[in-house]
Amino acid sequence: MTELVDATRTTGAAPAGARVSLEGLVRTYGTTRALDGFSLAIEPGEFVALLGPSGCGKTTALRVLAGFERLDSGRVTVDGRDVSKISAQHRDMGMVFQSYSLFPNMNALNNVAFGLRMRRQHATQRRQKAGELLELVGLSDQASKYPHQMSGGQQQRIALARALAIEPRVLLLDEPLSALDAKVRAELRDQIRQLQQRLAITTVFVTHDQEEALSMADRVCVMSAGRAEQTATPAALYSRPTTSFVAEFVGVSSRVPVEPVDGSVVLFGERCRIRASDTGLPNGPLDALLRPEDVAITLDETAKPFVTHKSFLGATTRVIAQVDGVAVRVDVRSDVAADIELGARVRVSVVSRDVLVAERSVTNPVSPQ
Ligand SMILES: Nc1ncnc2c1ncn2[C@@H]1O[C@H](COP(=O)(O)OP(=O)(O)O)[C@@H](O)[C@H]1O
Ligand SMILES: [Mg+2]
Repeated sequence: MTELVDATRTTGAAPAGARVSLEGLVRTYGTTRALDGFSLAIEPGEFVALLGPSGCGKTTALRVLAGFERLDSGRVTVDGRDVSKISAQHRDMGMVFQSYSLFPNMNALNNVAFGLRMRRQHATQRRQKAGELLELVGLSDQASKYPHQMSGGQQQRIALARALAIEPRVLLLDEPLSALDAKVRAELRDQIRQLQQRLAITTVFVTHDQEEALSMADRVCVMSAGRAEQTATPAALYSRPTTSFVAEFVGVSSRVPVEPVDGSVVLFGERCRIRASDTGLPNGPLDALLRPEDVAITLDETAKPFVTHKSFLGATTRVIAQVDGVAVRVDVRSDVAADIELGARVRVSVVSRDVLVAERSVTNPVSPQ
């Protein structure tokens, strides 16, 4: 337990987490608009994930917030104060990168103590604090190890301890788990989240992995082309994506044209309730937005739809059925899928009669694979 950074202590000091506001951020590199009017407001102690494909501006947003990158326009405030003119060193932010970025010539303890040395803390205090932080991330026994003597997961925990050592008011993590194998990634995901909640530190976590974002964050900001597409809680984002881009990012993989009938739609011959996004029901033609688990198939020689692809995923097999010229992806238990051959005729149905709809896409953006 570290007494020094635990948010539950009662010293009357300012709360651990800062309120952060990113307002209309624009950052260009030549003709590339890495940030193109990006805005996001973050509550004290909140954990926000920036989610989006490679190149959408996530790292740039984080670097601007940290003060490593200048802005063309827009502003960053921390607890209401404009920090644009404040250097990275004085912004009180801790950062963890994708690559471990530890100092190879320093052992774990000295890596963690590094930021404190920069802040001219006394050597004894530094060692004590660094020791507490190592305990916090469960690596007290690794204090004298050098980075090359530790696993990737251990190095990332050291990097996390180093970022937390300065008692930052904002913690910034740029794809910190992407270089790790799946098991370690899942463990560290839990550990980071628990630590963040315990310290109540305002956190921005960058990832291109939707599962990571949805499982860890209080709110997720989906980014595209330097802008925020939608910022919402994981549950709201999942059940009510407001744009097709967001829908695809949170697992929608098929779009099926449907016709509205008295406030409902007919999908695969069944009448379904409409679940529109918060922005309301779009006018004009509609598509049902479906995830593989929203659809079921059964073998039926008399049916018109047929199977065009199968890919084995382990417990489930992803099957693609052609329904009136539209590719529909379905996840089927692998033992059941073993009996479904390519070209087999199948009856396609909806699992829940409550479907997400969006304005019809002229060019079906979901690829046939
Ligand atoms: N230093 C740089 N010089 C030129 N272009 C850059 C630089 N940094 C980022 N970019 C460009 O800005 C866009 C956003 O990059 P980045 O923020 O790194 O995206 P992400 O982290 O989401 O993958 C990309 O098109 C990238 O090529
Ligand atoms: Mg990046």
